[in-house]
Amino acid sequence: MSQFLTEWKRTHTCGELRRDAVGQTVVLMGWVQNHRDHGGCIFVDLRDRYGITQVKFDPAVAKAAHDDADRVRSEWVLAVRGVVADRGENANPNLETGGIEVEATELEIFNAAETPPFAIVDRLDTNENLRLQYRYLDLRRRPLQQNLILRSEVARITREYLSEQRFLELETPILTKSTPEGARDYLVPSRVHPGEFYALPQSPQIFKQIFMVAGYDRYFQICRCFRDEDLRADRQPEFTQIDIEMSFIGPDDIFQLIDGLVTRLWKRCKGVDIGGIPRLGYAEAMDRFGIDRPDMRFGLELVDVGAIVARSEFKVFTQVVANGGIVKALNAKGGGELSRAEIDKLGDIATRYGAKGMAWVKIRTDGWQGPAAKFFSAEVQEALTAACDLEPGDLLCFVADTFTVANAALAHLRLAVGEKLGLIDPDALSFVWVTDFPLFEEVSEGGRYFSKHHPFTAPSPEDLPLMETDPARVRSVAYDLVLNGNELGGGSIRIHDQAVQRKVFELLGMGREEAEAKFGFLLEALSFGTPPHGGIALGLDRVVMLLTGAESIRDVIAFPKTQKATDLMCNAPSPVANEQLRELHIATRLPAREPS
Ligand code: AMO
Ligand code: AMP
Repeated sequence: MSQFLTEWKRTHTCGELRRDAVGQTVVLMGWVQNHRDHGGCIFVDLRDRYGITQVKFDPAVAKAAHDDADRVRSEWVLAVRGVVADRGENANPNLETGGIEVEATELEIFNAAETPPFAIVDRLDTNENLRLQYRYLDLRRRPLQQNLILRSEVARITREYLSEQRFLELETPILTKSTPEGARDYLVPSRVHPGEFYALPQSPQIFKQIFMVAGYDRYFQICRCFRDEDLRADRQPEFTQIDIEMSFIGPDDIFQLIDGLVTRLWKRCKGVDIGGIPRLGYAEAMDRFGIDRPDMRFGLELVDVGAIVARSEFKVFTQVVANGGIVKALNAKGGGELSRAEIDKLGDIATRYGAKGMAWVKIRTDGWQGPAAKFFSAEVQEALTAACDLEPGDLLCFVADTFTVANAALAHLRLAVGEKLGLIDPDALSFVWVTDFPLFEEVSEGGRYFSKHHPFTAPSPEDLPLMETDPARVRSVAYDLVLNGNELGGGSIRIHDQAVQRKVFELLGMGREEAEAKFGFLLEALSFGTPPHGGIALGLDRVVMLLTGAESIRDVIAFPKTQKATDLMCNAPSPVANEQLRELHIATRLPAREPS
């Protein structure tokens, strides 16, 4: 090793050398991508995170180096000293360094390697669990390296942008108290306080508001958040937010700030101009797309046909309308060619989201066809034709249900139809701000209220009177940034008035005592001079996912968890010693093992 430190100093990376370096003596270090013995000369492709350079071991040039190179296998770690040579006609156009090769004069083998369980190649068709178990090998692969390099760049640009605008990068605790963002908490037992627990933050929400109370005015943090929730392709139990809070501002200031940030990110990382970001009210988003994060790269908007089909003979529809539900339709333009089996598959999507069924008709030149066709009189057909812009060749799909179910089913149906009919341009970028969310979600009619965003979100000033009379109708000053149907970020203007905050806690079913126990410190802080403030958090992982086109959030996180929230590399979570549990005053009572 002393020899390594004194004699071997890397002069270039494996992605750096070009023809202008021909004749130079260089030292490269890296991993063996592959090695070939061409009877006489041995060729090794040496790889590091910058690229790949071909190294040639010619026994006529350096016998010892050639003999050592004969032992070398994939993923061994080497240092090579040699002279840069022009490959002339043998140039490899697929390699950035393909114009040259390094003619080795000396070889140092730092480390041998076992045969890896999968090849270190760009396109890999292997079980993801194996990749996660050997994450250090997976991370050597170029697609993952490019994702993480871009991730680093996104963080750097974000810091640069926000610092230019006088934001302070401030940290908040990880061992803290429950912060309500709608998921379960991860808890950490206290050794010093038997029976008591810290909660890991679901977000730094309360702390960033406290920063505003304390006068810090413009805060940001690139921070980890922890949520114990059901995982999906775009969700991880620990993920990263670009978290922002500002004082003395309104929603337009947040829109402007974030427009600027994503504009810079997409320009620098992808070279594209976003242009302005349009806004869409929540009510309109639900009406037209059935979802609060609409993918607006394509049309196929939903149409509320309740008033029309109320005049039909279809009992399912008339009953749903009579019971206060809704009937919405989706005109799958040109979907009349789909087979029965394909349409049934679409129906399965609707039922997966809670619908009891999906009725459909095909529009043909010779009339309407399909199981539901017989229920529609000529008059109703005419009205539907006008409302849904029907033409021969179309497929009209209906779902009748509650507002929530019918919209959820049709929103997902819309995505599936858009994909199936090839209407979604994968290169299109459709950013939209969704605004004016309701303050509360009502779980059942006259039932409990939950915060749609979180309990610190300000009600719209003009809806304040409704807080007393009709809380379900109160809108909030909350907004989400949506890109191609993905929620990139969400935020709101906050409540800065203690009485309003108390009222919201009360409507959430929190008694005075409970509110004091959970959020007494915040309520108290609100009584010590709180400026109007608001903010937002962008999901950094999702931003990187969309910038890279990765299909899974796990491909943009170095050490992600599986769908079951486990880390397969270090095997977490895992049992701990009884001694450790005793110290924490914890006894475990495990559920009965399910038969496997
Ligand atoms: P919210 O809960 O909407 O808001 O979160 C903000 C953004 O974080 C991302 N995100 C996630 N990404 C990956 N895995 C998850 N499990 C996950 N959960 C959320 C999303 C989301 O838009 N404190 C508020 C922000 C505020 O009001 O300022 C908050 O956390 O991209
Ligand atoms: P049924 O009368 O239950 O045989 O249903 C006739 C057709 O209507 C089938 O294609 C069902 O999938 C569809 N259907 C049933 N319930 C609903 C509903 N709530 N909304 C839309 N279509 C439905």
